Amino acid sequence: MAEPVLRAERLSRGFGALRAVDEVTLELRPGEIHALIGPNGAGKSTLIRLIAGEVRPDAGQVLLLGRDVSRLDVARRARMGLGRTFQVSSVAPDFSVLQNVALAVLGSRGGVFGLWRNVMRDEALTGPAREAIADAGLSGRGSVPAAALSHGERRKLEIAMALALQPRLLLLDEPMAGMGVEGAAELGALLSRLRTRVPILLVEHDMDAVFALSDRVSVLAEGRLIASGTGAEIRADADVRRVYLGEAA
Ligand SMILES: Nc1ncnc2c1ncn2[C@@H]1O[C@H](COP(=O)(O)OP(=O)(O)O)[C@@H](O)[C@H]1O
Ligand SMILES: [Mg+2]
Repeated sequence: MAEPVLRAERLSRGFGALRAVDEVTLELRPGEIHALIGPNGAGKSTLIRLIAGEVRPDAGQVLLLGRDVSRLDVARRARMGLGRTFQVSSVAPDFSVLQNVALAVLGSRGGVFGLWRNVMRDEALTGPAREAIADAGLSGRGSVPAAALSHGERRKLEIAMALALQPRLLLLDEPMAGMGVEGAAELGALLSRLRTRVPILLVEHDMDAVFALSDRVSVLAEGRLIASGTGAEIRADADVRRVYLGEAA
């Protein structure tokens, strides 16, 4: 089996008495979408933040391409290929799609925002930016101001900004949140196309999307990994059914 791109090894993190993430071990392999599901408060976002380096673990390790990155900060992990969608706040609404993505490339190279006028003339920045825009399904929208994008296109811009840094994997925390059925389906198709180039660890609420997209599904409940397998295995798993039925009751 191919070497995992990412491995979380017995990761734990508490907040006061709460064990938000409790000895979770999980892998992301080349070519796959690995979905992480679980009830609200299960620890999904905390796990993503632990992997990205935004939250420090109490115990456990994060291995990126076989290297222990547990002691590295967010920026170092990003430079090593850990891709994360940008927060909405990092998109400049008045700037075009191309400008936003080129700035993301500039930032990742330690560039300075003040050199802006040179940025758009620098093929070393706009080249990768255009490519990422195409990969994110925004071809032909490069000159549109970010503020004029639809909700779904905005998500694609965030993904383009992440792709422009040429990540080895993507961490996506509920990328379909707030999107309509059509937008979610379109974003799903995009993620499905991307997986062979960039494997994706996907936290997603929409179960139909999860089962349609994922090669593997892992289930968190109260900080613990209770099941991991194919969609069919997860749907048939008694513990998983109990957790979800318990939630609905
Ligand atoms: N920074 C924090 N401080 C205190 N408690 C937190 C913090 N972040 C998350 N939690 C708690 O940890 C638990 C897991 O949260 P989270 O990882 O956001 O769950 P999920 O994404 O699965 O809904 C929740 O009970 C949440 O309230
Ligand atoms: Mg969450």
